[in-house]
Amino acid sequence: MADEARHIEVFTRRVRLKGRAPGLSSAGGQASLKTLLDEADFSVSAFLLSVLGEGTFVSLLHFMHAHAPDPVTRQIARLAARDEARHVAFGMSHLAARLEHDPGFRTRLANAVQSRNDALSAGAGLNEEVFDALILLAAGEFTPAAIATGYARVQTLMLEMAQGRQARLERLGFSKATAGALSALHTRNFM
Ligand SMILES: [Fe+2]
Repeated sequence: MADEARHIEVFTRRVRLKGRAPGLSSAGGQASLKTLLDEADFSVSAFLLSVLGEGTFVSLLHFMHAHAPDPVTRQIARLAARDEARHVAFGMSHLAARLEHDPGFRTRLANAVQSRNDALSAGAGLNEEVFDALILLAAGEFTPAAIATGYARVQTLMLEMAQGRQARLERLGFSKATAGALSALHTRNFM
């Protein structure tokens, strides 16, 4: 929680550095985060948040580290990714320990991913402004050729995120097929 509070402070300061206001936080994004708070079982919540959400975010932060336009933003992304990787490792070891004592808990985890997907299926998924911003970030300039490159880089990012989720799920003992299905059900807003 201390790490996350620091991230909020640092990213907010970065946004306001040149006097700009923060962008949008969509109703879909907020509903997605609320499902994590509403989850009563700590291990289920840790699974959804740390293994799936924060794991996906590590890829996003590496992407920002690679493509951010200034050294301060790149450094912020690098340091936040290091914190998030630690949160993912904590979640993975917690889940591995719980599953070792209770292998049947895997079914509960799979059901939680499905229920969360059901609960959020009415939402629009990833805010289009966010998607466009990532493309522009990776493009680096406004020429059509650069935008096409940015688009391709965001497609690669999505693939890397899915592959990362799949690998972590398999490490927790899910079959390849189940891991693929659960990875595909993860929220489209990354978290
Ligand atoms: Fe985190």
